[in-house]
Amino acid sequence: MVSKFNKKHVVSIKDFTKDEIDFVLDLAEEMTEIAKGNKSDDSLKGNILGTLFFEPSTRTRLSFESAMKRLGGTCIGFARAGTSSVKKGETLADTVQVISSYVDIIVLRHPQEGAARLAAKFSEKPIINAGDGAGQHPTQTLLDLFTIREEKDEIESKKIGIAGDLKYGRTVHSLTHALSMYDCDLTFIAPPSLQIPDEIIKDIEKMDIKYRKAENITDVLDDLDVLYMTRIQRERFPSDEEYEEVAETYKIKKDMLENVKDDMIIMHPLPRVDEIYSDVDSTTHAKYFKQAANGVPIRMALLKLLTEGYNE
Ligand code: CP
Repeated sequence: MVSKFNKKHVVSIKDFTKDEIDFVLDLAEEMTEIAKGNKSDDSLKGNILGTLFFEPSTRTRLSFESAMKRLGGTCIGFARAGTSSVKKGETLADTVQVISSYVDIIVLRHPQEGAARLAAKFSEKPIINAGDGAGQHPTQTLLDLFTIREEKDEIESKKIGIAGDLKYGRTVHSLTHALSMYDCDLTFIAPPSLQIPDEIIKDIEKMDIKYRKAENITDVLDDLDVLYMTRIQRERFPSDEEYEEVAETYKIKKDMLENVKDDMIIMHPLPRVDEIYSDVDSTTHAKYFKQAANGVPIRMALLKLLTEGYNE
């Protein structure tokens, strides 16, 4: 495979072309048996991944660590800002500058939108954005696209409903940009106060994408190829009162799925709170745990491409 990828950093999915995304997905497909531990690859032996997580994470941090270790590399880092010298007042710029002299590649999660872009300016080594506030989560989007392609054979022209917290949900912001490159038909399902930001709508209108907004999930469910559920992002609301007003808005239960397309898939970036009942897990529609597993091959592909580990 001739590389179509020449990025130093992964900050936003908006920096990618469709060819670059497809290239990462193709390489990730080659990584799946290594990700499961069925084949070995030590192409990143001697490389160190730095994981700088200023916000909680289960999937993103641990799947990056798993990806690096499956490729023969090692990891150092922190999972809470409170254990780093940021607690003493050190800036993100200084932190990143120093850590980039200790490691070969950095994965950063931070509560401030734009943090990864800033970090990239101060880092000698590649920065991967693992979520910046309500901004972007590009590696989540790549694994989401990988899952849709795996389950539906192709991404193009699919009818995709994105439901929940579309205002604060960074996974949704990145995913919407990416799906607009694949000419998907998008339905944004949210209460008015949590609808998709206008600037994202302006972007997809430039791409001439078919889209609609809905408030009631049952009005649109039966027409979808993919339902992408999201958690209401409690931590980003200005007050508990505002959160409580919308907290219980959407809940998917098994008995709501009687009339959906047989091959409709339900995705969720996880963690879920109560927006998908556990009785959905055993249906053929539930793909969210498979989606989470796909984080490893996608992140392996990115680690290889951003270090010296990729050879044509
Ligand atoms: N999907 C996702 O980003 O999960 P974590 O917050 O557990 O990393």
